[in-house]
Formats: sequence, structure tokens, C-alpha cells
Amino acid sequence: MIPPKPPARPDNVSLWQYLRLFRRDILSAQPQRLYRAWMAEFRTPFFRSYLINQPELIDRVLKHRPEDFPKSGRISEGLRPLLGQSVFLTNGEAWRRQRRIIDPAFEGGRLKQTFSAMLASAEACADRLRDRTGVPVEIEEVTSHAAADVIFRTLFSVPIEHEIAARVFEKFRAYQRQQPLLNLAAFVPLPGWVPRFHARKTRRAAAEIRALIARLTRERAAQIAAGTAPDDLATKIMTTPDPLTGQCFNTDEMIDQVAIFFLAGHETSASALAWTLYLMAAYPNWQDRVAEEARAQDELSFATMSRLRISRDVFREALRLYPPVPMMVREATCPERFRDRDAPKGAQIVISPWHLHRHERLWEDPDSFDPARWATENGKACQRAAFIPFSAGPRVCTGAGFAMVEGPLILSTLLRRYRFEPVEGRTPVPVAHLTVRSRHGIWLRVVER
Ligand code: HEM
Repeated sequence: MIPPKPPARPDNVSLWQYLRLFRRDILSAQPQRLYRAWMAEFRTPFFRSYLINQPELIDRVLKHRPEDFPKSGRISEGLRPLLGQSVFLTNGEAWRRQRRIIDPAFEGGRLKQTFSAMLASAEACADRLRDRTGVPVEIEEVTSHAAADVIFRTLFSVPIEHEIAARVFEKFRAYQRQQPLLNLAAFVPLPGWVPRFHARKTRRAAAEIRALIARLTRERAAQIAAGTAPDDLATKIMTTPDPLTGQCFNTDEMIDQVAIFFLAGHETSASALAWTLYLMAAYPNWQDRVAEEARAQDELSFATMSRLRISRDVFREALRLYPPVPMMVREATCPERFRDRDAPKGAQIVISPWHLHRHERLWEDPDSFDPARWATENGKACQRAAFIPFSAGPRVCTGAGFAMVEGPLILSTLLRRYRFEPVEGRTPVPVAHLTVRSRHGIWLRVVER
């Protein structure tokens, strides 16, 4: 048995069939051969894009020459109403300046200070499940709630029950349903002169979310001025000057960044945790091992995290099979040769963690769930060369270290108390929304241990 994998489309379909499939779901719209190919070219009368699927090519784009392959503007467009000029969308000097200010807040040392807020969220999540045992529960909703709680507690020192936090969370859920992260625009680049329309509903939802975030950010600016601000991520980022210019973010710039922290920080972790819990239900032996490891600790603390090795390997294996960000797109600013193909300037370069993580010529038994692989030679080599759930190079996820503490911590906290069981007839089907989700949710039964 292998864990759920979307069916691949037939190798040869017409452009229109492809577009139709793509609209439905970007994962099942791809042909089987991408699990073996080193690269692929999508060539139509209207556009060309290139999927690179070989570690050396991906390193070239992400690590060695990232300046020549900035984020594609076509992808940014859909997210602009919500994210403004946030670090996720900017390029060049604007992006470098933002990273200089943001990165110190996520350094290893700071993680220790953030830990107690994460632990409080993990325990609150376990408490909320107490009244939901014995009946099928939609787990994506549970993990979204938990991950949003983590972001609010670590960023603003408020729990998800806080009035504004709860409203932001609510509005994001509506937004997520309307706005796929990777839209058709990535593969069908429209010429620059075509006016862009964001659905009115999407724009309104984005404006509402931003208004709420603005309130939190302004309140915090006032607290910082009064000397009463708590020592959390928001305060740290808002008081860190750019080492080159000495200037801090102003409140408007900070609103853009808070929007991306919330979005990038909660959608992704929620997706990863939901798939991890599904895999635990599907592989009870591994579930028992994680639970035993967690119960062997007197308490879960920052110091004990390094002992939760099974939990970490399980979470990592879930990130491999279900990378929350399944594809990323860059734009070539100069003509480029990839293997035996010439990509023109302006070509869209697609990098697919989804396909790389299941590459049949790189991974042993790529579609199997096997957390023990990380201790094997093949697993170690692939972890270095073919495992990029957080991307790689200078634009690597700022929250990677944060997420690798948060994920195993919430997993271990939940498994200390509960067992998760599959619900018959409810096998999840992976689809790419804003992140990799299940078409009809992930349903599990939660049982007290
Ligand atoms: C399992 C959890 C997570 C996964 C899988 C993940 C994955 C990613 C990926 C793949 C990117 C690069 C996207 C691209 O280049 O197109 C990214 C960027 C980013 N992530 Fe994460 N992320 C996670 C958690 C977080 C958390 C917890 C935070 C913050 C609290 C965060 C903040 C960011 C930011 C700010 C960027 C933009 C970085 C830049 O462009 O310079 N992420 N993330």
C-alpha cells in the first residue's frame, strides 16, 4: 500500500484539455513522466515554460544564480491585493532589505524564546480535542486552528481566541477558497498590457484582512513607543533596524510582512500537520513509536525537542510526500540553457518539490511512507540534494527552523494524549489549493489513549 497520490493525466492531451485539467487541480494535471524526467518543456502556440527536475538545475536557479531568476511577477499578481510589498513577493534590493530586518527574529537563539508560546498552542489544541473524541473529525480544520494560534501567540502574544485574531483567521479561510497560490497565469503568461482583474470578492476579503492586521500592528507600534510592548516576534521585527541604513520598517511595511507571516506561517504548517496525522492513522506502528517517544519525556520543552527524533523523521517524511508548497515559479531574466534546451529570456521556470520529492531515479521506493529512510545512505543523500520543502538558497523559507520545531512539537503533544484512526471510506485525495490539501478534507477519529 502507498499513501494517496493523485492520478497522473495521460501523456498526450490537447492544450485545451490540459488547461481544463489544470484549472481543476495542478497536481493531477501533470503526466506520469514528470516523476522520471530531469526536465520538461511546456510548449504551446502561446507560451513556453520549463519544469526543471534535476538537483543540479534547481541548485543553479535557487542557490547559484538566484539574481538571474527572480520570483515570477505572474505568480505575485494573484497575491498582491493581500500581501502588498511583502518579502514573499519582492525582488532585488527591496527584498534584500526586508530579509536583513526579518531574519534576526528567526535566528536559532530566538526560537528558544518563541518555544513557550508554541507549547501553549500545542496544549490548547490537545485540550480542544477532548470534547471531540470518538466521532470523525475534519483534521485540516483542527491543524489550521492550531497553526494560526501559533502564529498569533508567537508574533503578537495573543491566542487565537483574541477577538481580532479570530476574525483574521475566519477571513483567511474564506480567502483561501477563492485564491489558488499557483494560478493558470504561471503556465499561461498573459502579455503585460492585458489588464488584471482580481475577483471583487477576493479583493474585498484581502482588504478586510489587511484592515484587521493594521489594527494589531498600529496597537503594537503604540506599545513600543510607550515602552510597554511584549518581547515577541512583532516587537523584534518592528524594532530591528536595517544594519545598512539604520532604518526600521514603518507601520505600513510591517502590515505587509504580518500578512505574509500569517499566510505563509499558518497555511503551510496546517497542511503539513494534517497530512502527518493522516499518515499516523494509516501507519499505526509509526504512530505508536511517536507516542512512546513523546511519553518517555517527563515534559516537552525546548531542551527535549532534540530527543524527539522519531517525531522529526515522521514530520520530515510527511513534508516529502506532501510538500505544502508543491511548486514554485521563477522567471529567467536572460536566455538560459537547461540540459539540451534553450529557454528564452522571460521563460517561466517551474520547480516542483512535489515531483522532485518522488523522483523515481533519485529516491528508493519514492511513493512509500518510510520515516526510517532518513537514516539510510539514499535518504541522507536525497535529503541534501532532492528535498526542498522550504525551498533553498537565499530565498529559503524564513520560518524553516521555526516550522521544524512547531511540527514535531504539536505532533508529539497530540500523540501523547490521543490515538488517531482512519475513517472508512474517507481516504483523502491530495489537491493543490493555496497549499496541498485534501479534496474533501482529512477525516480521522480521535481516541483518548
Ligand atoms: C511546514 C511549514 C512551512 C513550509 C513547508 C514552508 C515553505 C516555504 C517555501 C517553499 C517558501 C518559498 C516559496 C517560493 O520561493 O516561492 C517559503 C517562503 C517563506 N516562508 Fe515558509 N514555510 C513554512 C512555514 C513558515 C513559517 C512558520 C513562517 C513564518 C512564521 C514562514 C515564512 C515564510 C516567508 C516570510 C517566506 C518568504 C521568504 C522569501 O521569499 O524571502 N514559513 N516557505
